[in-house]
Amino acid sequence: MPLLNTASHYGTVTRFLHWAVFLLFLHQYVGAKFMTHMAPDKPLFGLTQGNYYDWHKSIGLVLLALAVARWLWRKTTPLPDWSPVLTPAERAISHWNETLLYACMILMPVSGYLFVMAGDYGIKLFGLHDLFNPIGKQEWLASLSRVVHIVVSYMVVVVVAWHVGLGLKHHLFERDGFLNRMLPFRGR
Ligand code: HEM
Ligand code: HEM
Repeated sequence: MPLLNTASHYGTVTRFLHWAVFLLFLHQYVGAKFMTHMAPDKPLFGLTQGNYYDWHKSIGLVLLALAVARWLWRKTTPLPDWSPVLTPAERAISHWNETLLYACMILMPVSGYLFVMAGDYGIKLFGLHDLFNPIGKQEWLASLSRVVHIVVSYMVVVVVAWHVGLGLKHHLFERDGFLNRMLPFRGR
């Protein structure tokens, strides 16, 4: 499989970024469920609530870096042509859907970052190093960012569901191999 996108296929770099982001998003949702529902004084699977928060914030920042890298990659390398199996309506909707996916990939970590910095909760990167807080305590910004973080986290579920639904509809019901465009180790 070529490293770069070709006129008809996504290359290894795009596929790697796509699935790395997907797996880390899954991690964020599962981790958030644990950290917001566990008892503060009872470890879960050997980790404290503080460990889960540190990990969620740190992986969230890694996701921000990946989202920016991915967006720059998309802007600087040619995209493959639309899959011939997509109807004109599906192409138009996918265009908007992908724009929303990028918006969510940026909004989630940025709102999380603003929430914890403006709330003065801080970030201990991977439990090792306290990050400098350039914002300082600002209650209104913390409250607003928390609402954005939570609302967008539900938006992601809807936007990703549409994206995955379209892929599965083609691949499983229309049996046109659509997912092979993005699945790892699937060539021509
Ligand atoms: C966090 C979850 C996901 C996000 C944010 C996401 C985002 C994206 C984006 C932005 C693209 C456009 C190509 C690019 O710019 O890299 C894309 C393409 C694609 N994604 Fe996802 N995706 C996610 C999950 C999934 C899942 C779970 C599947 C499979 C079931 C999937 C299947 C595909 C396929 C097949 C394409 C190529 C579409 C085409 O050729 O038109 N994605 N995805
Ligand atoms: C793409 C990256 C991220 C994703 C997908 C994500 C996802 C989530 C989800 C699903 C929740 C639970 C929302 C709810 O209560 O229903 C949550 C909560 C939270 N996230 Fe993130 N997050 C990300 C990045 C970050 C970052 C970078 C930070 C901070 C640096 C952060 C800090 C928090 C905090 C503190 C909460 C708890 C909010 C509360 O008080 O309920 N997140 N996140």
